[in-house]
Amino acid sequence: MIHQLVYYSRNTVPGGDRAMLTNLREIVSASQRNNGRDGITGFLIFDKTWFVQILEGDRAKVTETYNRIARDTRHSGTTIINVRDVEARLFPNWTMGGAMRTPEVQEVYLQHGIGSAMDPVRLKSTQIVALALDLQAFEKAKRQGQRLAS
Ligand SMILES: Cc1cc2nc3c(=O)[nH]c(=O)nc-3n(C[C@H](O)[C@H](O)[C@H](O)COP(=O)(O)O)c2cc1C
Repeated sequence: MIHQLVYYSRNTVPGGDRAMLTNLREIVSASQRNNGRDGITGFLIFDKTWFVQILEGDRAKVTETYNRIARDTRHSGTTIINVRDVEARLFPNWTMGGAMRTPEVQEVYLQHGIGSAMDPVRLKSTQIVALALDLQAFEKAKRQGQRLAS
C-alpha cells in the first residue's frame, strides 16, 4: 500500500516570479535528492500565495518528509488536508513534479473551475489530486512537443 498525504501552506518567499522560481529550483533539487533516496514521489502546485503538495510513498517516510518540510521557513501554516492509503502511486515518474501557476497553465485551472485565485482552504483533496494529474499531463505533453519540435 502506498501512503498519500496532501497539504497546503502559505508561500512566505518574498519577491516576484523570478525569486519564486529560484527558490523553487532549490526546493526541487533538495526534493529530488531526498525523495529519490526515500522512495517518495509527488507533485507540488504553487503560486505567489500558496503551496499545495502531494507526497506518496512508504508511510514512515512520508511522515518523516512531511515533518521536515513543515519546519521549512519558506512557508508557514502547513495544514494537512488528507492522508490515505492508495493502491498505486499517482505520480510514479516524479521525485517531485512541480507546476507554477502561469498564464500557460491557466486553461488547466479553468477546466477545474479555478478561474481566479486558488483557495486551497476550500479545495477538497480529490480536486487537488485531479488538478495535479492534469498539470502533470500538461507538462508531459509540453515536453513531448518540445522534443518533436527540436
Ligand atoms: C513547499 C515545499 C515543499 C518541499 N518539498 C520537499 C520534498 O518533497 N522533499 C524534500 O526532501 N524536501 C522538500 N522541501 C525542502 C525541505 O523543507 C528541506 O529544506 C529539505 O528537505 C532539506 O534537505 P537537506 O537536509 O538535504 O538539505 C520542501 C520545501 C518547501 C518549502
